[in-house]
Amino acid sequence: MDTMETVTVKISGELGNFTPEEEEELRRAGDIIRKGGLVAFPTETVYGLGGDALNKESSAKIYAAKGRPSDNPLIVHICSLEDMREIVSELPEAAIRLARVFWPGPLTLILRKSDRVPKETTGGLDTVAVRFPSDPVAQKLIEYGGGYVAAPSANLSGRPSPTVAKYVEEDMKGRIEMILDGGEACIGLESTIVDVTVTPPQILRPGYITKEMLEQVLGEVDTDVTILKSDSGQAPRAPGMKYRHYAPKGELTIVEGPSELVSAYINEHTAEDKASGEKTGVIGTEERIEKYSADVVKSVGSREEEESIARHLFTVLREFDDDGVTKIYSESFEKAGLGQAIMNRLLKAAGHRVVKLPQDKSGK
Ligand code: TXA
Ligand code: MG
Repeated sequence: MDTMETVTVKISGELGNFTPEEEEELRRAGDIIRKGGLVAFPTETVYGLGGDALNKESSAKIYAAKGRPSDNPLIVHICSLEDMREIVSELPEAAIRLARVFWPGPLTLILRKSDRVPKETTGGLDTVAVRFPSDPVAQKLIEYGGGYVAAPSANLSGRPSPTVAKYVEEDMKGRIEMILDGGEACIGLESTIVDVTVTPPQILRPGYITKEMLEQVLGEVDTDVTILKSDSGQAPRAPGMKYRHYAPKGELTIVEGPSELVSAYINEHTAEDKASGEKTGVIGTEERIEKYSADVVKSVGSREEEESIARHLFTVLREFDDDGVTKIYSESFEKAGLGQAIMNRLLKAAGHRVVKLPQDKSGK
């Protein structure tokens, strides 16, 4: 791929108030998108890699910059509810209700597409993924970029999604025109994806908006069975969910069971690994971090506050790469609520390598 100069611009935009200089940079970024170029930008979930969603050449550039297979469709980001009508051919009641409650916010809806959306953007599908993000920098960029910005997460295909601009630079420098640095993404995991073309609506990717929250609005909601299983024998309904993802360079194993057994297992194995020349790492939580003796021990957050675990997970995975760790062990998390999204990403990062320790042998 040709290398180009990538400029990074800091935009603080506290509460949506931009300085005149920031406004100018945002307009410049919007122009790049209108002219068919690519700009990475912050959202409340993770950083996105944006291009004009209605321009098939822009979509082709996005796939090339990420090294992403072109059958993996892109999410179209909008900045006003009315704009949705242009790009969809049907608007089911469920979509309207979810949009009213959760937009702008970390929710993506799968809808039947209109002719305005090129197949290059939707990976050949007749449906389109639509999201209205709440981040003010994202909203301004979408507005100045023409209203429809296709944006996958701004990582190279297979790597953890970036939650800070530094990791966007690491993956995208020389591949895109501009990076808007708006600080740390506050949620840290990608949006919840809900297919509203089926009845009942189905969750294709878990995220910050949980099944319970969706059920409060819609009543019944299904979940794609492949979300937490590696052996369902079915293809995930979101094409991107079938690919190896988020994987750190070191070999990651999740250890599940009573906390005392988990830490004993991890310490025993990191000791053995060290003896055979590996650099070892542990993904632990505030509550248990003292127990581990690996080379690099990182707390991903507190079990008392699941949001903190979601926010730091991808960063921690990338930091193990920076540290050159070759064997990583992680604690396991509850699979309900936000934990479902956390475990979905962690299981993918581990290639579903899980050790299950017996519940009944718990020391206490
Ligand atoms: O939070 C997010 O959603 C972030 C930020 C940047 O907005 N974006 C993001 O995009 O995670 P990406 O491309 O990394 O993931 C999009 C996922 C993929 O798994 C893709 O297969 C699925 O959405 N998807 C997109 N369009 C779809 C469609 N029409 N039907 C089913 N799945 C679709
Ligand atoms: Mg992604």
